[in-house]
Amino acid sequence: MDMTRRGVALGVAGAALAGCAPDGATAFAPPRDRQFPQGFLWGVASSSFQIEGALDADGRGQSIWDVFPRDKIHDGSDAAIANDSYHRYAEDVALIAGAGMNAYRFSIAWPRILPSGAGAVNEAGLDYYSRLIDALLARGVAPYATLFHWDLPLALEGGWANRDTALRFGDYAQVVAERLGDRLKHIVVLNEAAVHAVLGHVYGAHAPGLTDASLMAGAIHHQNLAQGLSIQAMRSVRNDLTIGTTMALMPARTAGGWLGPLHRMAAQGFDEVWNRAFLDPLFLGAYPKIARDMVKSVLREGDMEIVRQPIDFLGVNYYAPTYMRFDLGAPSFLAPADPPAGSELDAFARHVDPSGLHEVLARLRHQYGNPRVYITENGCSDAFSDGPAEIDDQFRIDFLRRHLEAVKSAMEGGSDIGGYFHWTLTDNWEWAEGYRSKFGLVAQDRATGVRTPKASYAWFGNLARTGVLD
Ligand code: FCB
Repeated sequence: MDMTRRGVALGVAGAALAGCAPDGATAFAPPRDRQFPQGFLWGVASSSFQIEGALDADGRGQSIWDVFPRDKIHDGSDAAIANDSYHRYAEDVALIAGAGMNAYRFSIAWPRILPSGAGAVNEAGLDYYSRLIDALLARGVAPYATLFHWDLPLALEGGWANRDTALRFGDYAQVVAERLGDRLKHIVVLNEAAVHAVLGHVYGAHAPGLTDASLMAGAIHHQNLAQGLSIQAMRSVRNDLTIGTTMALMPARTAGGWLGPLHRMAAQGFDEVWNRAFLDPLFLGAYPKIARDMVKSVLREGDMEIVRQPIDFLGVNYYAPTYMRFDLGAPSFLAPADPPAGSELDAFARHVDPSGLHEVLARLRHQYGNPRVYITENGCSDAFSDGPAEIDDQFRIDFLRRHLEAVKSAMEGGSDIGGYFHWTLTDNWEWAEGYRSKFGLVAQDRATGVRTPKASYAWFGNLARTGVLD
């Protein structure tokens, strides 16, 4: 079991008892109508490091994931080939368009554009994304590009702990806007800054593989700052971009029992650092108390004005709620708890619970001014295995149907949701899980690279064409 992706304990100071964290699953009304609106975006999401391969091609610099130790990957694999999308992107585009999808969220590898993280621009790297964008547009698929999906240039000394990385990110974003913005109109700035900060810097389960809770301050604040700087930089060179950012929003629930109030305190502490440390600065211009205490060592005058930028949409990635408990032996007394006995679990032993998605969407409506939202990731893996994927993946169809009911219900409740990107198109290299985790609508034979659509591909295609949730 991979503790680090189930729930996480954070090195934060104790939370106040006041306030109340969500306590358990909340039922939501089934959608009244199963027809999604015209113009709704239906797409898939991917990320550069997980699909491209070709790590040495055309002047790409190394990223922190290139050197992440293989013995920390469950199947000992690497992403040297992955889906070979660097060479086979036309097949990806054909599959996306072939299913009637109208949008594709991919990520741009910063080290392909700026191999040293800063300085000289690598034209060949830009060309790759230029070709991909053209191929998408030629098939009527809108490109949504994430600027940072965890493959930080290795050359940037100190990574996110170093404030300078935020400034370099602003420069990189400006290059993307200047050089690709004539055709690339939709930008997702960051992917899941919380996951990158915590798993990469406290647990060492992701690159850069560090285990130092004191790095959290920089990893959180410098990503928020980078986001603000990049939005300013992109807007300074183009005024026709829609710009958003993607967060891994997780409702924090508690273990029951007689320690209930203390468990709620743990859940609230988690919520402040995982969700609110990113939502509050962006939408409200201030960190919540626990996060503020944490980042004060790196916060400078004027930063919060940079961090709070108007955005055109918020990307929501949702997989599962998390469960927390109070534990005297854990850092800051926060420890992950098991989902309630009898809960339906996914391959990562997380609670399969569409009500958590509904809850997150309602929260954005009530507490953050009802921003325009795209679901930028949602999906589920086959049970972990080194064998072939399940092609008749009825479990995935069931998962998607139930989560899309939550989305539709939230829309009927007033949420402004414009699209849904399934994670992911093709089974790919899933970070610390390697290839044993499979989230795709399409399977891949790893020996030949041949792609085979699963049952869910046809089901999702029907949805994308009709907008009707069957
Ligand atoms: C998300 C990541 C994505 C992939 C999915 C399964 O947290 O953004 O890269 O790992 O989980």
